[in-house]
Amino acid sequence: MGRTLTEPLVERMRAYGTTIFAEMTALAQQTGAVNLGQGFPDTDGPNAMLEQAVDAIRGGLNQYPPGPGLPPLRQAIAAHRKARYGLAYDPDSEILVTVGATEAISAAILALCETGDEVVLLEPYYDSYAAALSLAGAVRRPVPLRPVAAGGRFAFDPDDLRAAVTPRTRVLLLNSPHNPTGTALTVDELQTIADIAIEHDLIVVTDEVYEHLTFDDVVHVPIATLPGMRERTVSVSSAGKTFSVTGWKVGWICAPAAMVRAVMTVKQFLTFTHSGPMQLAVAHGLLREMEWVEALRSSLQLRRDRLADGLAAVGLDVHKPEATYFIQADVRPLGLTDGESFARMLPHDAGVVGIPTAVFCDDPDVGRPFVRFAFCKRDDVLDEAVGRLLAYAGRRR
Ligand SMILES: Cc1ncc(COP(=O)(O)O)c(C=O)c1O
Repeated sequence: MGRTLTEPLVERMRAYGTTIFAEMTALAQQTGAVNLGQGFPDTDGPNAMLEQAVDAIRGGLNQYPPGPGLPPLRQAIAAHRKARYGLAYDPDSEILVTVGATEAISAAILALCETGDEVVLLEPYYDSYAAALSLAGAVRRPVPLRPVAAGGRFAFDPDDLRAAVTPRTRVLLLNSPHNPTGTALTVDELQTIADIAIEHDLIVVTDEVYEHLTFDDVVHVPIATLPGMRERTVSVSSAGKTFSVTGWKVGWICAPAAMVRAVMTVKQFLTFTHSGPMQLAVAHGLLREMEWVEALRSSLQLRRDRLADGLAAVGLDVHKPEATYFIQADVRPLGLTDGESFARMLPHDAGVVGIPTAVFCDDPDVGRPFVRFAFCKRDDVLDEAVGRLLAYAGRRR
């Protein structure tokens, strides 16, 4: 297909027109539906951290920060990673601040993959991964995550993972805790992945933006802590979810110096650098606001339970997540088979928005019966959504 003035987009990006999030948010606005689609909180981050950003703007920190990020933020990231996981990174050569995790992932893939290289990733996957791979001309090799039992956690089959790796594989792109299934990979699962990465000499890029938002007794384990993995892992995280400031788009990578240099080489021509005041405020967050984050974690766990109970009362089969902002609900107990048509009808018929899980999959069968609902919302918003769903279920009976 040729490019014209009215169809100017390059071929490799044509599959990525309007995202499902924009589509469903527009539908929420049109119909007045409660939006449990997009994963952003409706309350703000810690006050002192917000004040830090304001002070930094008033204090004149308004010109280009250094490309790799402000030193105080790089030092705070290093201190945090060392204190929490025992992982030591040199703030000067092994940490790079990015415009959210999104830029970190795109820059990493563009830096590490030649055209035709294969990237193995867990399916369903966060939507920016596929687009980043297409930009790089890389080929995705999805490995499905499936529920281990009705209502159970989602997991991968190690044989599927082994089968997805070929001589062309360059990167394993992980995401744990995982959006949209809520799975936090266990040490055993991570060890399986690590063994394969080492055997095939692969680089692991791991998206850990939900690292602090785990529930019950689940703890996040960075794959870089496993033997032989630090030297082959680019760890990605971000302030957005940890501190409820998703609009700030402050992210970072921690990786060996050669990998940071490679990612920096690309990143400098995407954005060069990111807002100094926000970086300084996030440094404050990492050093001083982890108690606030712990309170957020507990409150999210209660909200997870609140929404899970509500969705179960509606008659959906609920997969309680181990982490993240999201619940997977299986529509089959309602006598339906297809989560996508359910999700598209829901704003009109029930006044609630969720995201069909199939849109995060290459193989629609993997996500077919599921809808993702976000619970990072205020109690009254969750209660309103559940009330509407119960009324809808009542009308269906
Ligand atoms: C798994 C995952 N990675 C990355 C992001 C984006 O992070 P950021 O806003 O820091 O770019 C999100 C946001 O929803 C996400 O769920």
